[in-house]
Amino acid sequence: MIRKLPPELIREIAAGEVISSPADVVRELLENALDAGATRLYIELWGGGLDKIVVSDNGLGIPKEELELALEHHTTSKLTDLQNIHTLGFRGEGLWAIRQAAQVRLTSRPPQQLGGATLTAFQDKTELYEHPAPAGTRVEVTALFHHLPARRNALEAPAAEGRKVVHLVSRYLLHRPEVALRLVVDGEEKIAHAGGGFAEVAKLLWGSVVANRLLPLEAAEGPFTLRGLLSRPELSRPRRDRLLLALNRRPVEWPEPLLQAVLAAYKELLPTGQFPLGVLNLDLPSEHLLINTSPDKSRVRLIRPEAILGFVSQAVQGLLAAHPLARALPEPT
Ligand SMILES: Nc1ncnc2c1ncn2[C@@H]1O[C@H](COP(=O)(O)OP(=O)(O)OP(=O)(O)O)[C@@H](O)[C@H]1O
Ligand SMILES: [Mg+2]
Repeated sequence: MIRKLPPELIREIAAGEVISSPADVVRELLENALDAGATRLYIELWGGGLDKIVVSDNGLGIPKEELELALEHHTTSKLTDLQNIHTLGFRGEGLWAIRQAAQVRLTSRPPQQLGGATLTAFQDKTELYEHPAPAGTRVEVTALFHHLPARRNALEAPAAEGRKVVHLVSRYLLHRPEVALRLVVDGEEKIAHAGGGFAEVAKLLWGSVVANRLLPLEAAEGPFTLRGLLSRPELSRPRRDRLLLALNRRPVEWPEPLLQAVLAAYKELLPTGQFPLGVLNLDLPSEHLLINTSPDKSRVRLIRPEAILGFVSQAVQGLLAAHPLARALPEPT
């Protein structure tokens, strides 16, 4: 059930301007779909996202009585305890912030509800009508930043904004390989993934030459689990832009000590200035993770990290010891 958050909780949430680009809209909608347990997602973008963005999912849906509430500020069905966050969203302001910047058409049907409903919202005006609809949620965002020229002018060309969206969606898919996802930008299919494992997504997004040189990693110790792929020592890259981390399934920037733990395992194996590639999903009890530190939730802090760092170091070292260096090769182009 969607509720308004109590004022004392609102004060604690690290809020800020969330929507400054089309990719921000897609991130909020994609996170909502994943939180709703969607296993199939369709994303469409026109004019770099300025003309239209559509995200549809087969998740839990929103009951028709709650559609209005979903678009209000600080209304959420998710958060109960800031120290114990299990969902990507928790502030109750994603849809509200999109609504401030665009025209929104929200269509939804929870599987158990007979018919669907659509709420259209533009500035203060909303309109609700009922009609048949497939189970799940579809959000259509149009006229993004039409009445906000400052934000519109700060954008890059539509093609560049479109590329940012492809990059963002790829990032989420790498961490959620089980989700089937299709992304279409200006009529061109950019991602078509039928669902699968880390290896399938790595192959789709990075190509088979890279994917074939990634080692599957799966380790668990007490409450910690680490899953993903890491490159064999003969594959490396001069940047670390393809070494990706999700903590409790949230894509995040690396907390520095954790990054160092992974890099240390490669230290003797890679030339200076070269970095491994891979994608890691690390799951920890939520009391080890402070999420609420930046408005876009990408920066997090580990609490009492010692045991976590030990576990990750050992897992990565163990993986590399089992696959000794064959011959150092630069990354294939
Ligand atoms: N795709 C969806 N499927 C099901 N419910 C949804 C979907 N999108 C939004 N909702 C409902 O609308 C509520 C408000 O969404 P909104 O994105 O504004 O806030 P949030 O996800 O709770 O928090 P955050 O601001 O951190 O994203 C959600 O809590 C959820 O109940
Ligand atoms: Mg949200």
